[in-house]
Amino acid sequence: MSKVLFEVTEELLDTGLRGYPVGYCVTSSVDPQKGLQYCGIPIGQLAKSPPQDMIYLLYHGKRGSAEEVRVFFEDLKKRAFLHEGVIEGILKLPRKAHPMKLLSVSLLLLDIFEGTGDYQEDCLNVIAKLPHLVACLINHHAGWGETKNPDPSLGYMVAFTDMVNVPNKDPHLEEAFKFFNVLHYDHGGGNLSAFVGKAVASGLETMMGSLSAAMCGLAGPRHGSANQETLEFVKEVHSHVGDQLTAEAVEDCIRQRLKNRQLLFGFGHAVLRVEDPRATVMYEFVEKHYGDNPLVKIALLLREVGPKVLAENPKITNPYPNVDAASGVMLTAAGFGYPEYYTVLFGLSRCIGIAIQIVYERCFARGGKGTPIVRPKYLYKNRDA
Ligand code: MLT
Repeated sequence: MSKVLFEVTEELLDTGLRGYPVGYCVTSSVDPQKGLQYCGIPIGQLAKSPPQDMIYLLYHGKRGSAEEVRVFFEDLKKRAFLHEGVIEGILKLPRKAHPMKLLSVSLLLLDIFEGTGDYQEDCLNVIAKLPHLVACLINHHAGWGETKNPDPSLGYMVAFTDMVNVPNKDPHLEEAFKFFNVLHYDHGGGNLSAFVGKAVASGLETMMGSLSAAMCGLAGPRHGSANQETLEFVKEVHSHVGDQLTAEAVEDCIRQRLKNRQLLFGFGHAVLRVEDPRATVMYEFVEKHYGDNPLVKIALLLREVGPKVLAENPKITNPYPNVDAASGVMLTAAGFGYPEYYTVLFGLSRCIGIAIQIVYERCFARGGKGTPIVRPKYLYKNRDA
């Protein structure tokens, strides 16, 4: 007899499948108390690792030696250039749309021009080509001119930073981009974008098509674009308190917001019940590198007073900072003050975890048969009853 893992009660319906186990994830897990682990290793221990080492870890499920990582990336380097049809297609996309729309369309263009129909091959191709694709997209959308060819010998995120034509590029930007990238690869199997990507792939849609759908899942403010919203929130708190960078002033400001039924961004999480360890390492990073930046000071004061104020409301199960609490502040302090691209940077990273999860579900799960098409049951409800 199979073990009962979880009981479905009526209260669990209409809660976004909260806590309901639906499958296995081979890349990462999220514990309510300990937070994110990549292949069983806490993110706090991995945050400063080079992107190449972390991509190897997630792809292979174990850490690679320097030589193994080098050989793996030798192969990826050969795949790093986009087909010119993809670049031409991106350059024709309307610039007035949110860049996340361009990301989803660009992934479909990648499928049209370079899709192989093989999940493993497309996974490697998409990992290799994402820096070029996202750099082209941002340069086009921002009007920053032509994108140079990738130089993958620089390293995964250094090559990306090299291609993004941000004006007056800060020499430390690549450090912030690397750090941001490593922290956003994966967050268990059930975050919305991963779930959507795997659900679409379960119908045997292609890798890039599934990732395009996943990026539509990431685009909403309850998921990936919360990082953009949180930066706006931190700026609003800053303009409210002005030069008064004190815990008291920030507390007054957020109490007033709550009284006006305005949201506080960057707090809470569907799974976590502690401060998100990704936020913890980002706070350390910004404090160390950009401690004098007023937005960093506000973010640190919000970390101090936000949980205290939110915890006064018994309905709030997690009053602690999440991954978005300091990421926008970090990118702004590092010279990338363009919040409309923050969710695209999240996508640049998250597509990697989702692509690897899709490979597992399509090629290895259930002894190689793959998981069946996602088809949950909905109970009929008479609207008039
Ligand atoms: C994520 O990184 O995907 C977010 O924290 C959301 C989630 O895990 O549900």
